[in-house]
Amino acid sequence: MHAERVDFTIVLFGASSDLAARKLYPSLYQLARWGQLTGEYRIIGVGRNDLSHEEYRLQVAEKIRSFSPGAIDDETHFAGFTGRLFYVMADIEHIEGYFRLRNEIMYAEGKPGVCSHLLFYLSTPPDLAPHIVRNLHQAGLGGKEMSCSGWRKIVVEKPYGSDLKTAGELNAVIGSAFNEDQIFRIDHYLGKETVQNILVFRFSNGIFEPLWNRHHIAGIEITIAENFGIRDRGAFYEHAGLLRDIIQNHGLQLLASVAMEPPVDLSADAVRDEKTKVLRSIRLVTPETVDRSVVLGQYEGYRKEKQVDPDSRTETFAAVRFFVDNWRWKGVPFLIRAGKMLAETVTEIVITFACPPQNFFGPAESCSYTANQVILRIQPEETIAIRFGVKRPGELVITDPVYMKFDYRDTFSQPGMTPYHRLLLDALDGNQMNFIRQDSVEYSWAIIDAIRECVADRMPEVYSAGSWGPPAAGELKGSI
Ligand code: BG6
Repeated sequence: MHAERVDFTIVLFGASSDLAARKLYPSLYQLARWGQLTGEYRIIGVGRNDLSHEEYRLQVAEKIRSFSPGAIDDETHFAGFTGRLFYVMADIEHIEGYFRLRNEIMYAEGKPGVCSHLLFYLSTPPDLAPHIVRNLHQAGLGGKEMSCSGWRKIVVEKPYGSDLKTAGELNAVIGSAFNEDQIFRIDHYLGKETVQNILVFRFSNGIFEPLWNRHHIAGIEITIAENFGIRDRGAFYEHAGLLRDIIQNHGLQLLASVAMEPPVDLSADAVRDEKTKVLRSIRLVTPETVDRSVVLGQYEGYRKEKQVDPDSRTETFAAVRFFVDNWRWKGVPFLIRAGKMLAETVTEIVITFACPPQNFFGPAESCSYTANQVILRIQPEETIAIRFGVKRPGELVITDPVYMKFDYRDTFSQPGMTPYHRLLLDALDGNQMNFIRQDSVEYSWAIIDAIRECVADRMPEVYSAGSWGPPAAGELKGSI
C-alpha cells in the first residue's frame, strides 16, 4: 500500500455537483471497497446547503446507489464508508465557512492543529477557484503554510480558466498558496487506459517509432465525437463552446501524446516537458490561415436547448487543422475534429502513412484506399488496428484494405478502474504525470485564443443531428 493513501482528509468543494455525484463519490467508495484507501481517511464535503453530517451521508449514499447501482455489494462496508463522510456548510466566497472547515478538520483529526494530510478537490465552476484558494490560504489551509509534517495537495477540475488571461490569473492565485508539485490539474482523458497506452505503444515497440515522423506519416486525425447534445449544461455550454470544452484540453492532450518526443525518463516532469514542447510548437492560426484551417458548426436544435440563447453563435462542433512546427512534424497536418450530436460516439486517433512511391496495383486511386494506418481507438471500443493492403482474391491484381486488430477486452480481464479511480489515486500518491502542468495549460489556451479571435465574427454552420458535422469539415480532412 502506498504510504500516502493512509490517514488523510479529502475536502471536496462542490459537494453537490453533478461530477461529484456521478464520478467522485462512486469512485471514492469503490477505491475504499478495493482496499486502496486505508487508515483513518475522511471526506469532508463543502457546499452551500445547510446539511448535518447525517443528512450529507444519506444524500451521498443515495447518489452512489442511483449512479453506480452495482457498486455496493456489502452494506456493512458501505455504512463504514459513509461514516467517514462529514459536511461543512460554506459560502465559497466568504471566509467564515473556511474557519468552520478548519475546525472540522481539527475535530475530525481529533488532534489540535491542521497538520494532517489534506487533499482539496475543486469540483466547482472555474470562477470560484480563485475565491476558494484565497480563502484556504487566509484560513491557514494553503499548501505553503504547513507547520508540521503533513502533505497538502489541490486538485482542480477543468475548465482551468476560460482563456489565457484567466488561466494565467488562476495560476497566479493558486501558485501563491500552493507549490506546483502540490497542484493537480485534471484532464480526465489522461486517466483513460487507452490514452496512457499511447506512450507505451509508441516507446515500447521498435517497429513504429522509426516511421513516426514527417518522412513517413502523411497526416494524423483525431476524432472526439458524441452522438448526444449538451444535455442539461446549456448555461455552461453557452459560455464555453466546443473549442474550449474539448479541443483546448482533451484534443490537444491527445495530439501532444501522439506527437511528443521520447522523454528522458518516466518521471512526471520528463513526460510533461515533452508534451509541453509539442504544444509550444503548434503554429497559431492567423486571419490569413483561419479559413483553410477551421470549420465550426452548431447542431440543428441547439438554440432551442434549455438556457441557450435563441440567437446563439456558440459552436458545438469544431474541426481544426494544426501544424506542429518542429523537426519531426514540419508540414504534417494534424486534424482534430470534435462535436456534439454527431453520428456516433467515438474517440480515435488515425495515423495515416505516406503512400509507396509507385502504385503497381489497381485501382489507380488505391493509395488513399489502402494507405497504411495505425488506428488507436480510445473509446468506446478499446482497440488498436493496423491497416494495410492485400491482393483481392481473383484474376485481377487489385488491392483491398484489411485490418489487424488488438482489443483490450479480448486480451485482458477488465480491472474496473475508470479515469477517476486512477487520477484520484495518482493525486493521493503525488504522481503528477497525468495532470496538466501550468505551462501546458497556458500554451493550450494561447492556441485556442488565437482561433477564437479569428472566428469571433463567424456564425457556425448549422449541421443536422446524426451527421458528421458541416460538410466543409470533410474538405479539411481531404487535405491531409
Ligand atoms: C468533458 C466535457 O470534459 O468531457 C463534456 O465537458 C464531454 O462536454 C466529456 O461530454 C467527454 O468525456 P468522455 O470521457 O465521456 O469522453
